[in-house]
Amino acid sequence: MKNLLYLLLFLISCAPKGDHAKEATNSDKDYYQEQHRPQFHFSPAEKWMNDPNGMVYFEGEYHLFYQYYPDSTVWGPMHWGHAVSEDLVHWEHLPIGLYPDSLGYIFSGSAVIDWKNSSGLGKDGEPPMIAIFTHHDPVGEKTTENDFQYQSIAYSHDKGRTWTKYEGNPVIPNTEKIRDFRDPKVMWDEANEEWLMVFAAKDRVKFWRSDDLKSWEFLSDWGHQYGDRNGVWECPDFFPMTVGDSGAPKWVLLLSINPGSSNGGSGTMYFVGDWDGKNFKIESKFEKDILDGKSVWLDYGRDNYAGVTWSDVPDTDGRKLFMGWMSNWDYAQVVPTDKWRSAMTLARTLKLDDSSAGYRLFVEPVHEMSKLRGVPTKLTPSTIAETMGLIGKFTANQSEMVLEFDLEKTNAAQFGIELSNSKGERYVVGFDQEHNQFFSDRTHAGKQSFSEKFGAKVHRAPRLSNSSKVKLHLFFDSASAELFADDGATVMTDIFFPNEDFSKAVLFSSGGEATLAKGIIYPLERSW
Ligand code: FRU
Repeated sequence: MKNLLYLLLFLISCAPKGDHAKEATNSDKDYYQEQHRPQFHFSPAEKWMNDPNGMVYFEGEYHLFYQYYPDSTVWGPMHWGHAVSEDLVHWEHLPIGLYPDSLGYIFSGSAVIDWKNSSGLGKDGEPPMIAIFTHHDPVGEKTTENDFQYQSIAYSHDKGRTWTKYEGNPVIPNTEKIRDFRDPKVMWDEANEEWLMVFAAKDRVKFWRSDDLKSWEFLSDWGHQYGDRNGVWECPDFFPMTVGDSGAPKWVLLLSINPGSSNGGSGTMYFVGDWDGKNFKIESKFEKDILDGKSVWLDYGRDNYAGVTWSDVPDTDGRKLFMGWMSNWDYAQVVPTDKWRSAMTLARTLKLDDSSAGYRLFVEPVHEMSKLRGVPTKLTPSTIAETMGLIGKFTANQSEMVLEFDLEKTNAAQFGIELSNSKGERYVVGFDQEHNQFFSDRTHAGKQSFSEKFGAKVHRAPRLSNSSKVKLHLFFDSASAELFADDGATVMTDIFFPNEDFSKAVLFSSGGEATLAKGIIYPLERSW
């Protein structure tokens, strides 16, 4: 009998613990130290990752699920990988949340806390966590029928650690037989007291409503009236926001599109308007920005895709928290990393304000990022003629910089910052005064040969602010740069792969002089 018990215990100890449960920890000196491994961005310990999914806050934890293929470093049968964080900066890997099943792979989607147990799927008086996702049937995809994507739900009673798929899946079948019919994002619509779902269907988004998350009713289609945008619509998000301090409510629709973004490939645009409980109507001032196929982009770099916001952030916090996939379908599957592929952007806050150009989203890194700051180096105000070396106790490729330039004392055509290494590779980011644009130049930033689409051109972003001070807030990690210019009015996120770490940083000006009014540089600790 005792032997049998030992055998049982032995078998239990051999059982898989979840394919990508944390293999190593911070105490292993090689953990997260591979070439190009982000030091303070989320990346999976190994294998393929794409979109963030099911982002929800519950009982002190921010959950991040993500499109994950545990058997390879290229896209494959999709699972939901899982991680949690208490501060949006340090992440703990958890076992895979959702596995493919007889209805298909688990594509992108969202998660909510069903506080009132409207679904009846709660247990012991505790609200369930509900995931709403697309099932993608790979067998159905090969037939001529186009109904192989549909929306399903799953529920968890243990803070997202284990899940049960709902027996009535799919909750929204694809009766119209639309090939691209996916990525449901659900929110509780306070004003109308109902669950509201938005998802992408080819060249439009669909709005559906529900009382219980299980049975859904179609409300409306939106978007096709604004023209062909030459790409597949994916991963929408829809939520109310207050305009600045005015208290006026507006609704924001985030929409990812691939290809067709401003600088090529995948990108995320947004729209501002009103919601009457059935239809989304674009705000009249905003309409001019999107007629004739024009778009307003959330990020003008090439590496911020499929991003959406966290659900159930407490009112006492009140922030709209966002995170995107820091890559681009143009080259994501061939970037030169061996053990894993892709990282997420930093967690960011979104704010809506009425700017001189109309309603715009302002995007900034979450304040929790300041936890990683080391001893700052303050820069003395100076005039930059060509270049000025930056010396201090920081490593260029693991740093945060806040630089303010005075345009009234700047006649340079371009100015900014350049990171480089001893191999002569360089990444340049800055402001082009002549064209009133920010730019991010990775054309000489290291490895390029893996894709013709990667380093072909300099990425550009229109400047929104009219201020005479140009503010560059930058985060440099091993393989990425994030620019939040003018307090989040213009954002650019780009990845790169230098053959040797960037170790040198200089401020530069070309075609004249630039005046640095203020500057501060922080070394950042690694978060792994
Ligand atoms: C966006 C996307 C989604 C889909 C998922 C599949 O990057 O194509 O539309 O659900 O990735 O992994």
